[in-house]
Amino acid sequence: MARVLVTRALPGAALERLRALHAVDVWDGDLPPEPAVLRERAAGAEGLLTMVTDRVDGALLDAAPQLRVVANYAVGTDNVDLGLCARRGVAVGVTPDVLTEATADLAFALILAAARHLVAGHEAVRGGSWRTWEPAGWLGHDVYGATLALIGPGRIGEAVARRAQGFSMEVLRVGRDDDLHAALERADVISLHCPLTAQTRRLIGAEALRHVKPTAVLVNTARGGVVDQVALRAALQEGRLAGAALDVTEPEPLPPDDPLLSAPNLLVLPHVGSATHTARARMADLAVANILAGLDGRPLPHPAD
Ligand code: DGY
Repeated sequence: MARVLVTRALPGAALERLRALHAVDVWDGDLPPEPAVLRERAAGAEGLLTMVTDRVDGALLDAAPQLRVVANYAVGTDNVDLGLCARRGVAVGVTPDVLTEATADLAFALILAAARHLVAGHEAVRGGSWRTWEPAGWLGHDVYGATLALIGPGRIGEAVARRAQGFSMEVLRVGRDDDLHAALERADVISLHCPLTAQTRRLIGAEALRHVKPTAVLVNTARGGVVDQVALRAALQEGRLAGAALDVTEPEPLPPDDPLLSAPNLLVLPHVGSATHTARARMADLAVANILAGLDGRPLPHPAD
């Protein structure tokens, strides 16, 4: 029986399977454990089931020398030092596929919301500032038939592309070696799906934003760090971009006085791409399967790339 630390309670029944075989310690705070607390709790753990809110870095690995497996409850791994884990023989697992459709649904919801002012319109009705129907009131941009640039067309990007077919959209897939600026010049909708790496950090910055159409909308369901938020705010304020809808920001949450939040035509959600009952329960299944395999010394069924 090995010691496993799980850094948040998980939906679904997966943790019961882990508890049946191992000594499981579940952090039950309302907020993620502070790094020092995480290090203290992880001492002696052989398995660690982490969230995107936990940093798996050298300090944590030093504090948990018996660690054999980290199962990140996410498809992204930017919170985990993968190189260091590999060097120390710690296997790292992720939760791919099971959150693809939920995240693509949300990306599409954000595309529609940003193009058609859904949230601002609702707030105007609720706040009493909407006075009457007007021929030129609340004009947005067509999504049907628009050109969609998928930046980082992986599993989730392809799922968004499938939805875009139903809207007769032209889809531009922009991978690492493609001309980002040329795609941005053509796109009516820009949807980000790349992982956060040294190469993609601030990919959508001042230079990239100089190439977008003033009628375009930007949607980010990937990672906040892919966008330069200062440059995004300037583009929105100066009307160089029609709108942005972000499920992810840096940091999370944004402090209420963060200048970005005062930008026009901006919608920000609390990182809910995978937040459906089904997706989160299936993510727990995959994370537990990764921990069980790692503790058994078997290859992880869902290893990080
Ligand atoms: C992920 O999986 O990387 C998401 O951001 C959290 O579900």
